[in-house]
Amino acid sequence: MLKKNNLTKLIKYYNFINYNLIYNNKAINRYKKDNFEISEDKTKSLKLLKFSIANLENCNLKKKASNIVFSDGNPKSKIMLIGEAPGASEDQEGLPFVGKAGQLLDKMLSAIDLDRNKVYISNIINYRPPENRRPTDLEIKRYLPFITKHIEIINPKIVVLLGSTAMNALIGNEVVISKMRGKWIERQFGNCKTSVIITFHPAFLMRQPAQKKMSWIDLKMIRDKKKDLNI
Ligand code: URA
Repeated sequence: MLKKNNLTKLIKYYNFINYNLIYNNKAINRYKKDNFEISEDKTKSLKLLKFSIANLENCNLKKKASNIVFSDGNPKSKIMLIGEAPGASEDQEGLPFVGKAGQLLDKMLSAIDLDRNKVYISNIINYRPPENRRPTDLEIKRYLPFITKHIEIINPKIVVLLGSTAMNALIGNEVVISKMRGKWIERQFGNCKTSVIITFHPAFLMRQPAQKKMSWIDLKMIRDKKKDLNI
């Protein structure tokens, strides 16, 4: 029999272990929210998140991709941009938005005096879907906890959703981009309360250049919000 004192110590020890361990010995559901709740600094949390994604099992995308595409930009930024999924160039380089759409995105950012040192960029999905197809609902569901956690870690004041996949994944399937773009909405992702704006994806703008004027309206809204929030 354990003495009361030792029992108290043991309970404290187990509480400590459970609180600090990232993985427990349960075989499934490793990525549920609690498992991320360890209080680490941002760098450590991001490393851990990347590690968790890289260790995701049963992911058909990962098997075919060359690299994980986690993020680019400044993790301290208060502006987070979220796209759909990596394409061929991103898969090769392991960085988001480095292909043609990325070049347009850089131009869009520079038009409002932003660049990759001033924003943080990621995608809903971290591995390239074959033939650049749109990710399936199941794939989006699988990656949703990760992008949600990613937002929570970065804790941005502004989230810019690029295109309808990012919008539907994070705002809901019932909305359409033509109605949702160019409006500020308030949302909470994990513990992060933030202002969200939806705008067209740069790849869409390359196919439909006439829509660039709408995108310019959205960009100006981001520029104004940045000023209002003193970012
Ligand atoms: N399109 C995206 O949505 N994300 C990228 O990283 C590249 C292209």
